[in-house]
Amino acid sequence: MTASKQTRITWLGHATVLIQTPAGNNILIDPFIAQNPKYPKDFPLPSKIHTILLTHGHGDHMSDVVAVAKKHGSTVVAIFELAAYVGGKGVESTIGMNLGGTIQLEDVAATMVDARHSAGAQDEKGTHYVGVAAGFVLTIADGPVLYHAGDTTVFRDMELVRELYRPKVAMLPIGGHFSMGPKEAALAVRFIAPEIVLPIHFGTFPPLKGTPEQLAALVDSSVRVVAWKPGEAFTV
Ligand code: NI
Ligand code: MN
Repeated sequence: MTASKQTRITWLGHATVLIQTPAGNNILIDPFIAQNPKYPKDFPLPSKIHTILLTHGHGDHMSDVVAVAKKHGSTVVAIFELAAYVGGKGVESTIGMNLGGTIQLEDVAATMVDARHSAGAQDEKGTHYVGVAAGFVLTIADGPVLYHAGDTTVFRDMELVRELYRPKVAMLPIGGHFSMGPKEAALAVRFIAPEIVLPIHFGTFPPLKGTPEQLAALVDSSVRVVAWKPGEAFTV
């Protein structure tokens, strides 16, 4: 595989991840930028973000969705109610979908999968129902299968993600408190059986104490747990 055929995955702190495919498709997952204490300082997003994927409606996953979508002319993909909600906030192009569905985004097939987490969206008028929390499996043409679990605890049906999609790379929350921590994530790794784990949703705030080292100590040594830092990229 040549460098030009590789998919680039950049961690922008918390659950915010930029995916850049070999065909030049730029996908941003869960944009949390201005208020994200771990967003890599002055990291320039590519000139075009084609698509923004939202796993759920919590502010630490979508507080910058309107700004990024407007600046880049991005289409926002989310569960049906959340897509409608951000449409009402000024995002012009949205695609609402639901669990088990797959949509084609140029060279990427994006499948919305289950997660176990709450999912209300909060604004000045209170808390709004915006569907349930989800994860995404991204099947990239001429590239790997990626799984971004969103916010979730471990659940046995992660085995279905393995059985259906065989992800090579799993982006899993490990911080604890608002999601699973290393103990639960280690079992998730057994259920999903990826080759590579990219930990997310840790270290952002003091309660999110889980670390990649703790996870690595609990999983089979054949699984690569990448101890990356915000702003670093992993190519696959
Ligand atoms: Ni959340
Ligand atoms: Mn979160």
